[in-house]
Amino acid sequence: LTVMSLCSAALLSGANAYANCDPGEMVIKFSHVTNSDKHPKGVAASLLEQRVNTEMNGKACMQVFPNSTLYDDNQVLEALLNGDVQLAAPSLSKFEKITKKYRIFDLPFLFTDVAAVDRFQNSEAGDKLKNAMNRRGLKGLEFWHNGMKQMSANKPLLLPSDAKGLKFRVQASDVLVAQFEQLGANPQKMSFKEVYGGLQTKVIDGQENTWSNTYGKKFFEVQDGVTETNHGILDYLVVTSGDWWDNLPDDIRDQLGTILKEVTEVRNAESTVVNEANKQNIIKAGGVVRTLTAEQREAWVTALKPVWKKYEKDIGSDLLEAAQASNQ
Ligand code: LMR
Repeated sequence: LTVMSLCSAALLSGANAYANCDPGEMVIKFSHVTNSDKHPKGVAASLLEQRVNTEMNGKACMQVFPNSTLYDDNQVLEALLNGDVQLAAPSLSKFEKITKKYRIFDLPFLFTDVAAVDRFQNSEAGDKLKNAMNRRGLKGLEFWHNGMKQMSANKPLLLPSDAKGLKFRVQASDVLVAQFEQLGANPQKMSFKEVYGGLQTKVIDGQENTWSNTYGKKFFEVQDGVTETNHGILDYLVVTSGDWWDNLPDDIRDQLGTILKEVTEVRNAESTVVNEANKQNIIKAGGVVRTLTAEQREAWVTALKPVWKKYEKDIGSDLLEAAQASNQ
């Protein structure tokens, strides 16, 4: 078997080399959009690939396609349903068009930190959200953390009024559109792979993302600076087709599910450290990172609070209360 050597070669070189699957092995394709190195999702996907290809050798073979090389997030759910790929891990914001319950994750300043998000996702109410898209054929397996979002633009952002009139790229989520409209800015939905070019050519002025994504895709190079706002969460749902999953042979489903769960626990525990390292990577590479005073931060919280009102009904008060309770 050449799987392990190929996998480690891919990890070392950062190149996209895919596991060489043997005849008779069930091929499991996992498509995602970020870099694989020094990234919460990228590293978790690579670890999952390594473990499946070692421990399930002869039965199953995983091939991870990072960096939007196979599909971007607008296409990948369709590809899952068509059986063209078997696993994906889009950010939670990309599911709000399928289930309004997921709007909870995009409310600005709802979760104080990733630990609170973790508590919510592991609560009864949060865990149930994995099944929110079952009747659309999608089965949620595990939540994966990336981290808190920061805002960047081609000018310093210290007060909410600084964002006024600027064009911001947002993920495909109406809540995120409402968030920037609330600031008097112009939000534009755009796929992740187009953000760097959009910033570089000034089609957009700014964006919001985690330290890992802002470093991994070098957004900081084409921005004036990044402001540490921690205003929202960017997390993932590892998702599959319910049909595919339910029809797997029991032993394969159990083993894959167990490996996935273990990888989730190990890598989720590291996500904050990975993001902090990427914040330092930005600074080391000459990027500007700005922090807010308590008063400045409070101004952002106050300015964005009206967004909650707009979506409370879609989300439901039970879910909102459970999310708020996770902050303590
Ligand atoms: C984005 O579109 O900005 C992120 O969801 C990308 C990712 O997968 O982290």
